[in-house]
Amino acid sequence: MNEKQRLESGQVTPADKKSEKDYSKYFQTVYMPPSLKDAKKRGKEEVAYHNDFSIEERFRGMGQGRKFYIRTYGCQMNEHDTEVMAGIFLSLGYEPTDSVQDAHVVLLNTCAIRENAENKVFGELGHLKALKRERPDLLIGVCGCMSQEESVVNKILQKHQHVDMIFGTHNIHRLPHILNEAYMAKEMVIEVWSKEGDVIENLPRARKGSIKAWVNIMYGCDKFCTYCIVPYTRGKERSRRPEEIIQEVRHLAAQGYKEITLLGQNVNAYGKDFEDMEYGLGDLMDEIRKIDVLRIRFTTSHPRDFDDRLIEVLAKGGNLVDHIHLPVQSGSSDILKIMARKYTREYYLELVRKIKEAIPTASLTTDIIVGFPNETDEQFEETLSLYREVEFDSAYTFIYSPREGTPAAKMKDNVPMEVKKERLQRLNALVNEISAKKMQEYEGRVVEVLVEGESKNNPNVLAGYTEKNKLVNFVAPESVIGQVVKVKITKAKTWSLDGEMVEEAAEVK
Ligand code: SAH
Ligand code: SF4
Ligand code: F3S
Repeated sequence: MNEKQRLESGQVTPADKKSEKDYSKYFQTVYMPPSLKDAKKRGKEEVAYHNDFSIEERFRGMGQGRKFYIRTYGCQMNEHDTEVMAGIFLSLGYEPTDSVQDAHVVLLNTCAIRENAENKVFGELGHLKALKRERPDLLIGVCGCMSQEESVVNKILQKHQHVDMIFGTHNIHRLPHILNEAYMAKEMVIEVWSKEGDVIENLPRARKGSIKAWVNIMYGCDKFCTYCIVPYTRGKERSRRPEEIIQEVRHLAAQGYKEITLLGQNVNAYGKDFEDMEYGLGDLMDEIRKIDVLRIRFTTSHPRDFDDRLIEVLAKGGNLVDHIHLPVQSGSSDILKIMARKYTREYYLELVRKIKEAIPTASLTTDIIVGFPNETDEQFEETLSLYREVEFDSAYTFIYSPREGTPAAKMKDNVPMEVKKERLQRLNALVNEISAKKMQEYEGRVVEVLVEGESKNNPNVLAGYTEKNKLVNFVAPESVIGQVVKVKITKAKTWSLDGEMVEEAAEVK
């Protein structure tokens, strides 16, 4: 069978796609729906690095006189993917707009992590139906994690025929082709690769803002926590080469960015997939800290992979911030086991002790799920007691949401929704109590604030963040935006601090 026959027979594998640059010419409409089953497989094949992204001549000018709008849901990974897609749109000649009404292309970059995240997207698709009726030439696209789910694609096919294109998280670099198809085709264009082991290096990026920037260091997740959809929607763990990351961070520093956040679903698994060297997140941070940038953060780290080398490097301080987001999910070893988190309550507490010993000023934040299938009152109490013991600065808290295709979704669950809601309320009360107490400690202290701009709620006030990511509001001239200033805290609230600038800003390089 030759390439064309194989493509037409539908026997397309990711390897074929890699070798076949323009297979879409064989189809009138691309129809390549996702498969959760394929997404679950982890092949042994090596990660392929590509550095040959370019906009084909025939697509140049596609966006002339057209505007794009992207709505982003979900995590920082999605925010950053949106920056890449915006970069591609700009390269195609499109202009950005922040109004759906003005847009010629609307993309919803979606999140599949919990049911309510998905409901928001379906609600938005409902709203867009009327707009599409008014302007049939409007292109509507769904991308991001939801497009990797079969059930979502089927639902869109059945109920949201006004969608023009669906493409997956591994297909972002194919945006020019997908748009081209969508302009030509009468049918919905669907291109979702379910299994991908590639890293594409030289994609354009239109970054939002000029003070803080995200840098992907790895993609995917191999942890398969039993409740989580991410390993299916984002594929296998694959790390970018250190030299590429270092070059990107250097470039951002030279452009004047003050804060860099290294991104990955499980950042401290960084480097585990390298076959030619032993190199981890600690080693990478040890290099990056030498770059002249004010603050370096990373998210999200998994307790299991938080090794001593990383702690040792973080303890060097400097531009490596002393705030660590370390999701614990539950304080019960039994629940952690069923979640397949691969650590116990004791392991987590010992890790926290080691971090605090090496970095005494360290502050920790976390993620917690309540109401996991069959969670008992005692097990929930263990979460509360762990929270009190660690004294997290704050936490993202969630009610467990079953995700189709994950092992936990098949578990019987004897915990009624009212009980789950009550647990969430109790946990949130504790989170607020400890946050307020920690914020109180700031009153009267002077903190360094990286000024980001006007406060969202009050344009007469400027807002910025401390190294520990505390939001600070204060009055100062706009000229200090983008700089670091010293602010004396006058009033602590539960989630933010009010203060007065005590010193003129020093220009920070
Ligand atoms: N990679 C990160 C988490 C990404 S998802 C990590 O492992 O830390 C962000 C958070 O969403 C998770 O930490 C978890 O608390 C929550 N979450 C994930 N799946 C969920 C589900 N099915 N129901 C409820 N919360 C979930
Ligand atoms: Fe999901 Fe677990 Fe991977 Fe985090 S580590 S993305 S919670 S599977
Ligand atoms: Fe959501 Fe996908 Fe991020 S499921 S949390 S957008 S990786």
